[in-house]
Amino acid sequence: MIPSKVVEKVVVCRDVAHIYLKLLKPIVKPTPGQFVMVWVPGYEEIPMSVSDFSDDILRITVKCRGPTTNYLVRELPVGSYLGVRGPYGKGVTEDLISGKGLFIVGGIGIAPILYLVKYYRELIKGSKLLAGFVSRDESKVTDELINYLEVDMVSEDVDGATVIDLLKKYLPSINNYDYYLVSGPKAVLDQVVNLVGDSLRGYVLTESLMKCGLGFCGSCALKDFLVCRDGTLVDASRYRWLIS
Ligand SMILES: Cc1cc2nc3c(=O)[nH]c(=O)nc-3n(C[C@H](O)[C@H](O)[C@H](O)COP(=O)(O)OP(=O)(O)OC[C@H]3O[C@@H](n4cnc5c(N)ncnc54)[C@H](O)[C@@H]3O)c2cc1C
Ligand code: FES
Repeated sequence: MIPSKVVEKVVVCRDVAHIYLKLLKPIVKPTPGQFVMVWVPGYEEIPMSVSDFSDDILRITVKCRGPTTNYLVRELPVGSYLGVRGPYGKGVTEDLISGKGLFIVGGIGIAPILYLVKYYRELIKGSKLLAGFVSRDESKVTDELINYLEVDMVSEDVDGATVIDLLKKYLPSINNYDYYLVSGPKAVLDQVVNLVGDSLRGYVLTESLMKCGLGFCGSCALKDFLVCRDGTLVDASRYRWLIS
């Protein structure tokens, strides 16, 4: 466990904040899509995607869900300490990012994509991001990507639409892209892999309940696949089988 000091906190909207952690010991540079286990004193240890990384500063982007995430977003003071383990999981390697990509994101599934887009900024030129959020406020989290790729997004409060509605508009021209990558809640992942089918090479950043993050406890199992050990990245065709 690496002690980490909270050096900055940027509130994006009521329910989402970026938290910048100065790691007091070095870690291996994370590959986009990898996650860390964050131990929050007095609360739980929870998995968080790396949403940016430079030198000894690791950023996580947190959305309120239950007690631990609520504390992180609403109460955690700058100057306090958290514990970090990782990075874990299989991230998105350079060989997969060839050609024009279509990134499909639901909600806080944006966190790993924020890191990926900047990390592979040259390789992802000409790619597009489709994103759906609960509120227009929350969609501000994509502002930092505006110089890197085209963004098309919807919010439920203003547009009355989800990222799945948005994706349906793109399905007739899906072959303009060379691959897709989807990140977000399970309901979004499941619908996207079924809608796109085999018409395009696809990858899924899987989400699941996690406890140990190390392949020991079985909390994250999808059939024989342990998300923490074998994922989080998985081929869309394999994911379709895992959820069948
Ligand atoms: C690999 C990975 C990366 C993640 N990255 C991020 C991130 O970058 N930013 C972020 O805000 N969140 C991320 N999450 C989700 C985050 O870990 C959970 O929101 C957090 O653990 C909830 O803790 P809590 O104590 O606040 O809520 P809890 O009380 O633990 O949970 C509140 C509710 O959410 C459900 N829930 C909790 N975790 C999950 C989950 N992983 N999948 C589906 N339902 C869940 C619970 O069953 C419960 O109903 C990630 C999860 C995984 C597995
Ligand atoms: S979280 Fe324990 S096995 Fe994956």
